[in-house]
Amino acid sequence: MSEARNLSIDGGRLWASIMEMAKIGATVKGGCNRLALTDLDREARDLFAGWCRDASCTIRIDQMGNIFARRAGLDDTLAPVVTGSHLDTQPTGGKFDGVYGVLAGLELIRSLNDLGYQTKRSIEVVVWTNEEGCRFPPSMVASGVFAGKFSLAEAYAVTDPDGVTLGDALARIGYAGDEAVGRHPIHAYFEAHIEQGPILEAEGKTIGVVTGAQGMRWYEVTLTGAESHAGTTPMERRKDALLGAARLIALVNGIALAGAPDARLTVGMIEAFPNSRNVIPGQTFCTIDTRHPVDATLTALDADLRDGIGAIAADMGLELEIEEILYSPPVTFDADCVAAVADAAAATGHASMQIVSGAGHDACNIAAVAPAAMIFIPCVDGISHNEIEHASQADCAAGCEVLLHAVLAKAGEAGNDAC
Ligand code: HGY
Ligand code: MN
Ligand code: MN
Repeated sequence: MSEARNLSIDGGRLWASIMEMAKIGATVKGGCNRLALTDLDREARDLFAGWCRDASCTIRIDQMGNIFARRAGLDDTLAPVVTGSHLDTQPTGGKFDGVYGVLAGLELIRSLNDLGYQTKRSIEVVVWTNEEGCRFPPSMVASGVFAGKFSLAEAYAVTDPDGVTLGDALARIGYAGDEAVGRHPIHAYFEAHIEQGPILEAEGKTIGVVTGAQGMRWYEVTLTGAESHAGTTPMERRKDALLGAARLIALVNGIALAGAPDARLTVGMIEAFPNSRNVIPGQTFCTIDTRHPVDATLTALDADLRDGIGAIAADMGLELEIEEILYSPPVTFDADCVAAVADAAAATGHASMQIVSGAGHDACNIAAVAPAAMIFIPCVDGISHNEIEHASQADCAAGCEVLLHAVLAKAGEAGNDAC
């Protein structure tokens, strides 16, 4: 594979593609608002698919709308090496989260085409549907169906705040494909992504050799009290669901601080009903996102949350519903794939360090069905899920170079089809 070491990518072309994609759903603060399965998501998918066809890839789409752009290898019967990420964003998302991994994969294909470089195994670039899970919770649902974590029916039935189902939204944008989800062997999977945290930048490293990802649970909590008049109802007679939610938020924060430094708990959404300034709120809905690298601790946090919220509801005479809508255990990536990333960083001369992902990624699901690993690059001040999210052109190019060599280490492999 020594000839591979001389291969390089076109960082300027990669950057131009990222900036072009960022125009779709561009926000005034310089980020992107491109929610899953909207017309903007379709526009981004169409742009990506067009670029892949221009790069002589064949396109296949599965029933969850996952897009697989394939560059044929010398032996197209072997399971491909797959790379990619997602194109959907948060409402106040940035230009790089997900998009970088998709377009780094495309740049890898474009560079191999320019160099006329043939690989033994085919290489595919994948776009996973609805990674963020903000419009259609939970996150990473399409790679979850691919990995057998959710059924297609479950995923199709998820509704957005307007009651639109994921299945209907997917059909409406014309990306409900024919291929059965998951019947798609993968020899090895690599996902390039911005770190979305401050560690690489603080340590002065260009490449994160991602060894795994922390675990996470998502909950939806409904507290029900009683609406009543803000002027006539004495304080001691109230069943104020928003006060209950306020105590819940303080509890969640307290549990996180007690589990410092690794416990991370967030109440990201809250809705009050009827949301009228002179009515005591009779019901609140809120979400809780919990993260921890150790599964047993994640379980302990679950118990602490349920006990604490139960005590608040009992003390205030509120009805309580807690629904866990996502459990993603901590993941350890495949040692060989992690080594391929580390070797690629060394071969390309980029300073690297091992790191565990604080964010969830589609790679976490794919690791359950194929050898997988990730490559991180720094993002400025560790900021992500924010319109000012930024990564440098040089770091984007470096990560893509490492991705190229890691993928080639697996795509050029001889031998039988292990997967
Ligand atoms: O929530 C996450 O960790 C990812 O950004 N979907
Ligand atoms: Mn992402
Ligand atoms: Mn994200």
